[in-house]
Amino acid sequence: MSGNKKRLLSGLQPSGELTIGNYCGGINQFLQYQEQYDSFLFVPDMHAITVPQNDPIKVKERIRRFANLYLACGLNPDRCTFFIQSEVPAHNQLAWILECHTYMGELSRMTQFKDKSSKYNNIGCGLFTYPVLMAADIILYDANVVPVGADQKQHVELARDIVKRMNGKYGSSCPGGQLFVEPTPLIAKVGARIKDLQDPLKKMSKSAENPMGSIYLLDDDATIKKKINRAVTDNDGKIWFDEEAKPGISNLITLYAALSKTPIEDVINRFNGMERYGDLKKEVIDVVQSVLQPVRDEYYRLEKSDYVDKVLDRGRDRAKEIASKKYELISSIVGFGR
Ligand code: AMP
Ligand code: TRP
Repeated sequence: MSGNKKRLLSGLQPSGELTIGNYCGGINQFLQYQEQYDSFLFVPDMHAITVPQNDPIKVKERIRRFANLYLACGLNPDRCTFFIQSEVPAHNQLAWILECHTYMGELSRMTQFKDKSSKYNNIGCGLFTYPVLMAADIILYDANVVPVGADQKQHVELARDIVKRMNGKYGSSCPGGQLFVEPTPLIAKVGARIKDLQDPLKKMSKSAENPMGSIYLLDDDATIKKKINRAVTDNDGKIWFDEEAKPGISNLITLYAALSKTPIEDVINRFNGMERYGDLKKEVIDVVQSVLQPVRDEYYRLEKSDYVDKVLDRGRDRAKEIASKKYELISSIVGFGR
């Protein structure tokens, strides 16, 4: 599984339900690279409780749904290590050490914290320190690349800054002067920020209040059709790509390009100047349905079996072995123990 390949790691937080935005910005990218790298994909369940979760049973069900959905989307468990974060204690252990090496000012600058903290009344400290847990996730496996959507880039850059600081402080105790590997974010060229269908100025989100704005991975064909047909566009009556002047139309073009794996310039040329928004919407409906239908079928097949448990057990064992070794090294380097 590993050989001399570089390492890749990514995950999607199981809060809300996975959308076509997560697919374009996260899953699709991951699938594209999973064979090329020694890949690690995990369900970051500890991150899910950084925002209020009122029903633990729903949390558990969602973790399982996410795991089955990754497999249904095409994650190859023979090529990649697939596990649940909370089953590998080193994530939490390393996060503490890293928290003690991260500045309050750095975390205060995280734009996602500013966005999310403005939505809730009583926010937990975990929401503030969550990017450090994310850094621990990445650092434990010496990940070289981290495929994420655009809004996570800042967090991967923070992880990189923490790595540089830790290497500067403790690297001389390690062979090669390097304790940790510097990670690089991999951002999709097209589809890194799919917009909400009802408000194309906002990103499509797992936890959107209006479900008409998001296409969920388990939406059926009729729902997909309805949502795209009702997508907010404009009154200009001409199709052209301009994310500022025509956010709704540009979002549909981007969705089409990302899912049909067609270069965005070709898609723009193809639709440019067309006058009927309905024609564009019809093509977008076709491509979304053709991507999601096999995912749905496979998901409902997997849901009835215990296949995912076998995959996750194997993944946990490999992840634990690698992560605990890395944690023991750093723990002794900072001076813990006898
Ligand atoms: P989130 O849904 O915000 O927890 O993000 C999970 C992953 O999906 C991250 O890598 C995000 O950057 C990516 N992602 C989330 N929403 C979108 C979107 N609307 N378009 C593209 N990527 C997204
Ligand atoms: N923060 C990511 C999200 O919101 C999930 C995540 C947690 C992650 N740890 C990570 C992604 C490490 C990439 C690498 O979905």
